[in-house]
Amino acid sequence: MRKLLVEGGKRLNGTVRIGGAKNSAVALLPAAILADSPVTIEGLPKISDLQILGDLLEEIGGTVTKEGQTIRIDPSEMISMPLPNGKVKKLRASYYFMGAMLGRFKKAVIGLPGGCHLGPRPIDQHIKGFEALGAQVTNEQGAIYLRAEELRGARIYLDVVSVGATINIMLAAVRAKGKTIIENAAKEPEIIDVATLLSSMGAKIKGAGTDVIRIEGVERLSGCNHTIIPDRIEAGTYTILAAALGEEMIIDNVIPQHLESLLAKLREMGVTVEEGDEQLFIKTSDNLRSVDIKTLVHPGFPTDLQQPFTALLTKANGTGVVTDTIYQARFKHIDELRRMNASIKVEGGSAIISGPSRLEGAKVKASDLRAGAALVIAGLMAKGVTEVTGIEHIERGYEDLAEKLTNLGATIWHEEMSEQEVEQFQN
Ligand code: EPU
Repeated sequence: MRKLLVEGGKRLNGTVRIGGAKNSAVALLPAAILADSPVTIEGLPKISDLQILGDLLEEIGGTVTKEGQTIRIDPSEMISMPLPNGKVKKLRASYYFMGAMLGRFKKAVIGLPGGCHLGPRPIDQHIKGFEALGAQVTNEQGAIYLRAEELRGARIYLDVVSVGATINIMLAAVRAKGKTIIENAAKEPEIIDVATLLSSMGAKIKGAGTDVIRIEGVERLSGCNHTIIPDRIEAGTYTILAAALGEEMIIDNVIPQHLESLLAKLREMGVTVEEGDEQLFIKTSDNLRSVDIKTLVHPGFPTDLQQPFTALLTKANGTGVVTDTIYQARFKHIDELRRMNASIKVEGGSAIISGPSRLEGAKVKASDLRAGAALVIAGLMAKGVTEVTGIEHIERGYEDLAEKLTNLGATIWHEEMSEQEVEQFQN
């Protein structure tokens, strides 16, 4: 087991290139199940979640070939093999096997998904959608069983705006008979990306990116080539880092419109932000002002950037209030930031950050992916060395983090944990 060591206090400079979007990729790979010939996806990020999804596609009979950041999935020999246990439980996005296998085989058995612990993460809206399409859904010993004689298009109103449910229902509905309308759909860019892939495969989808998606089911879908969108959360994380420490930093391969809510907040704080076509230029200020943020569904402030942004607020003058309306319990990073001398209290579902604090290096633990990013940012801002454990969470979603930061002038390296440290970590 490895840990990450970060020596803080340096300004950062240069260009960082953003990879493909994790939360798109984790849906695009299972979407390939729906085709009857090979699907090629280019520009994938180098993250551990995708390795697991590739293995799962092979488990059900797919032929997966990888070359650099491109994957080719031949789904023609796939079978409706049950996946009640094993790797499927390791990540949240394995729930996309439900929609995709239901769409293709009209049946699926998928273990209840794992993923980051951010408080309760129900999948009732996914199930509501599958049932509306004509599937019988039961939960048997921790696995979801889905069966349908045939899938029929339906009008589905989501009670909660959910990225996962919107995509999962799209996956099943593209091969249902007739028309499906998803109302109160999520509008995240990843949904548009998945709809683009499905359309290239021959699906008929209108309205992805708005809150009403209309799908006309088709009999068959075929293979295609697709290039993934850049990861707006990885881009946002480096943008926040640049706002804290960037002398002159360029975030390359980004769609600035995906990050408008973040950029508006950074400008309010006094950060210099310039937008190019596919680049952002960011420069910190010696006099950052605190702001409040409230996470909302897209295009509101993304919950996935809340934790990194909290780290930044420790450097700003004044009091900032961070409220997460998507995951009210996504505050596990706060105790760790406090260990580093941050002045933060959590009250009634909000974190209240009083700044500026002089952060100091400490031993901290990443409880989830974005908490890990927050701690690395804090470590880079702090005096001395910060040791971050739990980095397998970070590797699930940030490609080459240490290398990218080193190229920006940061001092960051991996070390093997001692047996004693591993024991302490696991308890
Ligand atoms: N929700 C329900 N019922 C459902 C589905 C969701 O009540 O059936 C609730 C959730 O508990 C949450 C809210 O609805 O309070 C939004 O959840 P959503 O379904 O949109 O989240 P998700 O699809 O499970 C994806 C990302 C998350 C990201 C959220 C919100 C993937 C694999 N994950 O999760 O990403 O935080 O959307 O934008 O796409 C991350 O990247 O660190 C991450 C956690």
